[in-house]
Parts: sequence; C-alpha cells; structure tokens
Amino acid sequence: MRILSEKGVLSGVADVVPEVANAVATKYSVERFLSYQELLKSDIDAVVIVTPTDTHEKIASDAIRAGKHVLLEKPMTGSSEKLRLLTALARDKKVVLAGGFTERYNPIVDFAHRSLHAGEFGELITAATRRVSSLPTRIRDVGVVMDLGVHDIDVIQYVVGRRANSVYALGGQGKSMKYEDHANILIDFEGGTTGFIEVNWLTPMKVRKLALTCSKNFVEVDYMDQAANVCSSSFRHFESGNLFNVPIDVDLRRISLKKEEPLKRELADFLSVAASGKDPLVSGESAISTLKIAEAALESLRTGKKVQVE
Ligand SMILES: NC(=O)c1ccc[n+]([C@@H]2O[C@H](COP(=O)([O-])OP(=O)(O)OC[C@H]3O[C@@H](n4cnc5c(N)ncnc54)[C@H](O)[C@@H]3O)[C@@H](O)[C@H]2O)c1
Repeated sequence: MRILSEKGVLSGVADVVPEVANAVATKYSVERFLSYQELLKSDIDAVVIVTPTDTHEKIASDAIRAGKHVLLEKPMTGSSEKLRLLTALARDKKVVLAGGFTERYNPIVDFAHRSLHAGEFGELITAATRRVSSLPTRIRDVGVVMDLGVHDIDVIQYVVGRRANSVYALGGQGKSMKYEDHANILIDFEGGTTGFIEVNWLTPMKVRKLALTCSKNFVEVDYMDQAANVCSSSFRHFESGNLFNVPIDVDLRRISLKKEEPLKRELADFLSVAASGKDPLVSGESAISTLKIAEAALESLRTGKKVQVE
C-alpha cells in the first residue's frame, strides 16, 4: 500500500478484519471495503492480492472474472493444477496474471542472470541457495517449502533456464507444526545442471544467499546486500612433494549494486504490463513449473524417494 500510494495509483483496500481495513484506509486516504467482492464492484483496473495463500484461488478467479488485472502473491495458488486453470482463465478474459515472486525483481538476481547468460562466468554447474531464518508467527496455511522455498525454486529455474527432470528432498517438521519447517532440496535439470536449496524456519540468523558454481567463476550472491563476490583462481608452481603449501592466486571481484527495493520493481512491472498488456517478468505460466518442483519436493519429503517432475 505504501508503494502503490507513492505511485498515486491506490484507490481502495479490502480486508475482512474491520480494524485492519479502517487503519490502512485512513493511513493512505483511500476507500475501504469489508469484503473483496465489494472492492471488485468498484471502478478499478487492477488488484494486488496479499491474503493468506489458501484464499488466493477464489479471490483471484473472482477478480479475473470481474475483468481486473491481478498481481497474486507467491506461491500464487499453492497448487500447480489450480494455477494452470487460473492462468487459462486470465488468458481467456484477456487480463494480466502476475506472480509476486519478489526475489526475481532483486537487481542482484538480474545481474547474475545477465552475466551468466552472456557467458561471463562460464558454464553453470550448480546453483545453490540458502534461505534460513526463525519461525514467522504469521504463516499458518503452508509449510516452509511453499512459503520460502518457492522464491529460490523460481530464481534457480530462472538462472538455469532449463526444465527440471527430478527432485529429491530431505527435511521434516517441528513437533508443534502442521507443516514441514526445514527442507534440503536437490533438483536435477536437463543438461546436467544441479540446483540445491536449503530452506528452514529454525535458524536464529536470517541468511538469504545464492551460490553459482561455474566453469570459470564461483559467484556468491547476497540477496539482502544486493551484492556479489565473483571469484576465480589459478595455481602457481608448486612442489609435488609438498601438498600442504599449494600457492594459489585468488582473484576476487566485489559487485555492489545501488540498492533498490524489489517490491517496488515488482509493482512497477505489474502496473506497466497492466497498461500495455505485455507479459510480466513472473507470469502465471512460469510459476506453474515453480509449483511443480515445490510439489515434487513435498512428495519426496513424504515418500523419501526421488520424484520426477511432470
Ligand atoms: N513476496 C514476498 O516476499 C512475501 C512476503 C510476505 C508475505 N507474502 C505473501 O503474502 C500473502 C499474505 O501474507 P501475510 O504474511 O501478509 O499474511 P497476514 O495473515 O499477515 O495478512 C493477510 C491479511 O489478509 C486479510 N484477509 C484474510 N482473508 C481475507 C479475505 N478473504 N478477504 C480480504 N482480506 C482477507 C487478513 O485479515 C490479513 O489482514 C501470503 O500469500 C504470503 O505468501 C509474500
């Protein structure tokens, strides 16, 4: 609401909790509705749906049927089949359906993707992420794979640029939880590239990192700092009888970008495609394959087996 209000495009807010609806409507001087159905009747072009995941499919399909462009928070519907139907509905009604996979709008992800695809780092061998922090109090309807892991599945798919063949995952759930709270996910992509995701709600520290092991460079990206270390190395002459002292020249290049708020870029993209009818950076279609990988990871967690991605 803060960003949309700054952009001068915010016209109203709906929340089922009257205190919430009243407070934010007053703060941003916009109309307030106590149901999204009422909001959809008003003269607006687009909606951003930021409710709990298990409400997404119903609210988004009603909004699309009402002819509104939709930005739907990740993980969009939480089921690839439901998302496939929703995407088809959006296409049919000729409205934009964009996915709120905010990390894709992080400028450092842009940098990594561009450099990789220009061949600057050599061939990508493994893309590995670590997204760990402590338990949020707000998420009650999905586990850590659908809440946090989907960001990294989306980013890894984007940088790898190939289809996933299969997924193997290990993890589990804390005693007090209905869903998994930690997972380690291994993804086998076409062409032999490996994806690896460590995600949890158990760690006291918040870490958000992506590492790209490539044939020329090792690249460590920090999503929060919006910075990357690009490393390469070469051996100097060494004595074959002395492997304790192997002289190695390490070249480390630090890329530090001017920080930009990923959510601001996401909303700017949504407003621009809603006006032009073009595809958003994260479309419903691209999120379907993200959800298929997340579903395969959850099935692998349940069965202990490697799961093919359909
Ligand atoms: N992209 C990101 O980085 C990011 C970050 C945080 C949350 N999210 C996503 O945003 C969504 C919401 O998460 P949250 O943490 O803000 O949840 P929350 O529970 O804190 O807030 C959701 C709000 O939706 C309201 N609501 C619930 N049902 C409603 C309905 N039927 N109609 C209108 N209002 C309704 C609730 O009253 C509440 O005010 C989730 O899908 C989550 O995955 C994305």
